[in-house]
Amino acid sequence: MKILGIETSCDETAAAVIEDGRRILSSVVASQVDVHHPYGGVVPEIAARCHMESIVPVVAGAMDEAGIDFAGLDAIGATRGPGLVGALLVGFSFAKAMGFALNIPWTGIDHLEGHLNSVFLAEPAPDFPFTALLVSGGHTAIYLVRSHVDALCMGRTRDDAAGEAFDKVAKMLDLGYPGGGVISRMAETGDPDRIKFPRAFMDRSAYDFSFSGLKTSVKRYIDTHGDFQSHVNDIAASFQEACVDVLAQKLMSAALENRCAHVAVVGGVAANSRLRQRVLSDARKHGLKLFIPPVSLCGDNAAMIAAAAFHRLTGDCPQVGNLADDVYSRVERRL
Ligand code: KG4
Ligand code: ZN
Repeated sequence: MKILGIETSCDETAAAVIEDGRRILSSVVASQVDVHHPYGGVVPEIAARCHMESIVPVVAGAMDEAGIDFAGLDAIGATRGPGLVGALLVGFSFAKAMGFALNIPWTGIDHLEGHLNSVFLAEPAPDFPFTALLVSGGHTAIYLVRSHVDALCMGRTRDDAAGEAFDKVAKMLDLGYPGGGVISRMAETGDPDRIKFPRAFMDRSAYDFSFSGLKTSVKRYIDTHGDFQSHVNDIAASFQEACVDVLAQKLMSAALENRCAHVAVVGGVAANSRLRQRVLSDARKHGLKLFIPPVSLCGDNAAMIAAAAFHRLTGDCPQVGNLADDVYSRVERRL
């Protein structure tokens, strides 16, 4: 079964063709990073306009790369939410129109369910149930994943997402946008123990997170250390270490509480090499097996959306979309 996935929840226009929920035939991602860079963050109206310009060539590119024509498609899956409404509407409406015109089923996919399914696009894949840390620019949460379409949220951030904290700290340090990659590169040559930034909620609030205190603490450090430019690498490394510490420890505790032998880390921040290294060593220490998608599947992409769509469309009660379906901006209670 060949499914076209479409993702336009934020600032990436992405399309992919996936066979039987696992095999990637194509995956095209057009990033708008350069467009939003001067503003230091994503401008929703500009994002929507860029998606309008990119959606046709990106879908055509994914079809070309997969080497099939529209008649070869069995279904379409597009991100329905959460995300920027104007951005979501472009991809979701496009999918509806395409499904209607081709007379094939299509379905709306929750972006977070897409990220959770990204671990199944690489080999080996985890067994259910597993405990997953979803850590991105918009979300930070821990799930007990019971099937491709059933994930129980055990805790989530009460304020900023971890990726958002990386982006904001990078902005404070004048390192540009998005901040994750650049902070992580600078941290490679920095001392992670130089500044003891706070780790929030380590002894309470179970699996909830908070990153706004950490962000404020970095700001205070910058404001009170006139010479901070002389050790930006140490600030980046110390900030990153505080984030990674909380993320890794909470993931391990949740996995042990859930009695899961398999753990996963997904989302844009899962590309962070220090986080990858730390969860790997912690997982080994606890006798757990770790699954992290390749870096190309950590950030927003449409392959994960098509993979999730496969399971939504082929499960016990297939969930086919209809023309009245609408997008949503906030996290669904289910996820
Ligand atoms: O999953 P994603 O592409 O979009 C959302 O669903 O939010 O994640 C984007 C986030 C951004 O905040 C970006 O700074 C962060 O992932 N990110 C990283 C790294 N690469 C991307 N954060 C830390 N280290 C990285 N290497
Ligand atoms: Zn995402």
